[in-house]
Amino acid sequence: MESPHPAQHPQPLHGIFTAVPPRYDLVNHIITLGLDKRWRRLAAQTCLENKPRRVLDLGCGTGDLTISIARLAGKDTDLTGLDYSQPMLEKAQQKAVKAGVQKLARFIHGEANRLPFPDAHFDCVGISFAFRNLTYKNPLGPIHFAEVKRVLKPDGRYVIVESSQPEDRLIRALFHLYLRLFVQPVGIVLSGNPGAYRYLAESARRFYSSSEVRDMLLAAGFRDVYYSALLFGVAGIHVAYK
Ligand SMILES: C[S@@+](CC[C@H](N)C(=O)[O-])C[C@H]1O[C@@H](n2cnc3c(N)ncnc32)[C@H](O)[C@@H]1O
Repeated sequence: MESPHPAQHPQPLHGIFTAVPPRYDLVNHIITLGLDKRWRRLAAQTCLENKPRRVLDLGCGTGDLTISIARLAGKDTDLTGLDYSQPMLEKAQQKAVKAGVQKLARFIHGEANRLPFPDAHFDCVGISFAFRNLTYKNPLGPIHFAEVKRVLKPDGRYVIVESSQPEDRLIRALFHLYLRLFVQPVGIVLSGNPGAYRYLAESARRFYSSSEVRDMLLAAGFRDVYYSALLFGVAGIHVAYK
């Protein structure tokens, strides 16, 4: 797929996510102390709660959520991972082959704000650690919500696993310190990509609280939003219904 000129259709953060892949998974596991895998598995279980037939992993990156869902789902579940970073998608495809789930999932190059699917196509849209990229200081955020709603069937679910803000002030302060003193420098050294990990630490520190995300989802027209905090609220899973 050809990318339009940025001035015609800006693609926020695209440069970061095409540059990051070589050590993306390793850095993720280290900066989350290995918890990212567990959190994605919980998100995968949540995606499968309503026995969806078609699931989209939005901003699939190197495919971990798609692969987690594929491992847990029956072979009748149709899985699609979508991302605008070709290098991420190539890794996702290789990992799906290695995990033996390549027949259950396809990976598609595409833009979250112009999803290449018909209306009411998916029973569930899952997103792991890409929601922040699509909403925090992203002028295209409202379009992404409209697109997710468009491709979901009525009663379909949007399942979001993302970093959050712990409610307890002391834990929040410690979490922010951890982002600044551990995540940012370790990410920079291991990835060799200072811009990417400065952005990650900064956006996670300033990202919305769970109640703000809930309000955004309700304002975008979703209903019955509920939230489960993970590890004292440093991350969490939102579920919203169309
Ligand atoms: C932080 S990574 C998360 C990747 C993966 N879901 C995971 O759990 O590791 C964010 C992903 O979202 C993708 N992304 C960001 N903005 C996007 C957009 N507008 N359209 C499609 N993909 C996007 C990036 O390329 C990147 O792979």
